[in-house]
Amino acid sequence: MCGIIGYLGPKDVVPLLIEGLKRMEYRGYDSAGVAVYDGKTLNTRRTPGKIAKLEAALAAAPLAGHVGIGHTRWATHGPPTEKNAHPHRSADGTVAVVHNGIIENANALRSALQELGYVFTSDTDTEVIAHLIQELFDGSLEEALLAALSKIEGTYGLAVMCDKDPNKIVAARKGSPLLIGVGVGENFLASDPSAILAHTRQVVYLDDGDIAVIERDSYRVIDAHATPMSRKVDRILWDLAEIERGGFDHFMLKEIFEQPTSVENTMRGRLILDDGTAKLGGLNLSHDELLHIDNVIITACGTSWHSALIGEMMIEELCRIPVEVEYASEFRYKNPIVTDRTLCIVMSQSGETADTLAAMREAKRRGARTLGFVNVVGSTIAREDDGGVYLHAGPEIGVASTKAFTSQVVALALFTLKLARKHDLSVVRGREIAQAMHHLPDQIRTVLESAKAIETIAEEFKDATNFLYLGRGYSFPTALEGALKLKEISYIHAEGYPAAEMKHGPIALIDEEMPVVFVAPHDAVFEKVVSNIQEVRARHGRTIVITSRDEPNLKGLIDYEIRIPETLDMLMPILAAVPLQLLAYYIAVKRGANVDQPRNLAKSVTVE
Ligand code: AGP
Repeated sequence: MCGIIGYLGPKDVVPLLIEGLKRMEYRGYDSAGVAVYDGKTLNTRRTPGKIAKLEAALAAAPLAGHVGIGHTRWATHGPPTEKNAHPHRSADGTVAVVHNGIIENANALRSALQELGYVFTSDTDTEVIAHLIQELFDGSLEEALLAALSKIEGTYGLAVMCDKDPNKIVAARKGSPLLIGVGVGENFLASDPSAILAHTRQVVYLDDGDIAVIERDSYRVIDAHATPMSRKVDRILWDLAEIERGGFDHFMLKEIFEQPTSVENTMRGRLILDDGTAKLGGLNLSHDELLHIDNVIITACGTSWHSALIGEMMIEELCRIPVEVEYASEFRYKNPIVTDRTLCIVMSQSGETADTLAAMREAKRRGARTLGFVNVVGSTIAREDDGGVYLHAGPEIGVASTKAFTSQVVALALFTLKLARKHDLSVVRGREIAQAMHHLPDQIRTVLESAKAIETIAEEFKDATNFLYLGRGYSFPTALEGALKLKEISYIHAEGYPAAEMKHGPIALIDEEMPVVFVAPHDAVFEKVVSNIQEVRARHGRTIVITSRDEPNLKGLIDYEIRIPETLDMLMPILAAVPLQLLAYYIAVKRGANVDQPRNLAKSVTVE
């Protein structure tokens, strides 16, 4: 979603802000802007659309200075126009504000400020903050911000500059991530570490309620009463190369091809082949606590919700503990049955999804132990959970989640293995699962060898207007994930369904125009899926079938076959997801879609 960058130091600020904004493009945005202090006054440039347009505006009317803030906006209040783009200025032009989040009492504040004579020039909630700070300014920018925050309700990651107190950026965090990048003779502010990784690895993650006062040679963090807060300096562990495309046409393709490594990294040091179990250091649950879990709730959104469905099947099958999977957006407003023996697993690539975070807080409030299965180190979910499992998939830049999904399923398999071995899974069965997991990276390499063949299938189906994805058992969530991948990046309507459920409605859609993707590995329900494939063929549907074996029963039923290696049923989604990702990718590319930044989507959805 929206991105924030700020800088104070010796460098020319404009190229640095632009570079930082570009690094956050993957998050999704529809307008961009910068504010720069040139030694005398604050000036802004803002444009709707992509950062290239902002660069053109800056080329036509350059700005220069050594202190500045920049923003990419994903529209919530008001369309993506120049007047709604951030930074927003106060009426007298002295204050510039960039903001991620939503000010809930913006209308009331707007009316109060209008009564004082302030004229509003945008449709945004953010503009009230700029005017409010102008109104409350009495010589110190941080004091004005503190006073303004006491009147604001809502969520924010905020950065503010003022040319009456010019050599500082003040920032505040409540519900929207922000970090300080600590340099030598220079300091940074960002909502995403990728924005500043080219300049420093030393970061201070702000907590909710923190206010930061950042100057060129120093920074301090205070709370709402101006009490100094101590915050530790963390180190970003990933490399710049991981957030660059490295010869691939798109981040999504790079991330699909990274999966042998990302899956290996999720398992590294955790899979214990001899004992048929897993070591997960961050759970913060004792042996006894693990044994006394009564029920598990897994909450998530989107792709993470699909991996949760797979986790549900694994845990119920091997640990015999009841599991419920809840959309985070629904869970947070329900009256769920949670006890102090409920384990709530919170799945999130970004660790910042607003609904997932709120669901975790609600589960915690009701007494559940929470475990975050998160990819982004230091993210809010990772910092607020009781324990967790980092995915270690590396930064995922493509908006369509690929390697995070396979790592989520692997992490859930590790957790299931550990929990099941504590219950009554035998060492023999545990070893069988651990061995099968150990082979996954090589098996994914084998699947990736089909990329060219899948590209050919994509050519055949690129003009389709609808797709059905069907699977049963462990392959049902995989079918859902395949359909989501296709629709989010190619804009083709696609539905995922349990294969047998098709007869109860979607079968009406099937004719010679309808491509149907079957996820049909040779697993416990394979024979049943063959019957469903026959039902589609009988109605002249076109079939693309992901299989794992040469199968006489399928002769004459398949238009296109994609072969994956055999593994245990519970691990099949990890292999079957890869061709589905490739199919979606190649179809989207052939339709000319912007694969890494699909329209209307954001990488992490930080609004409700
Ligand atoms: C995945 O391709 C999507 N872009 C989206 O569904 C995503 O999985 C969802 O927004 C949840 O994000 P999270 O895992 O970062 O919480």
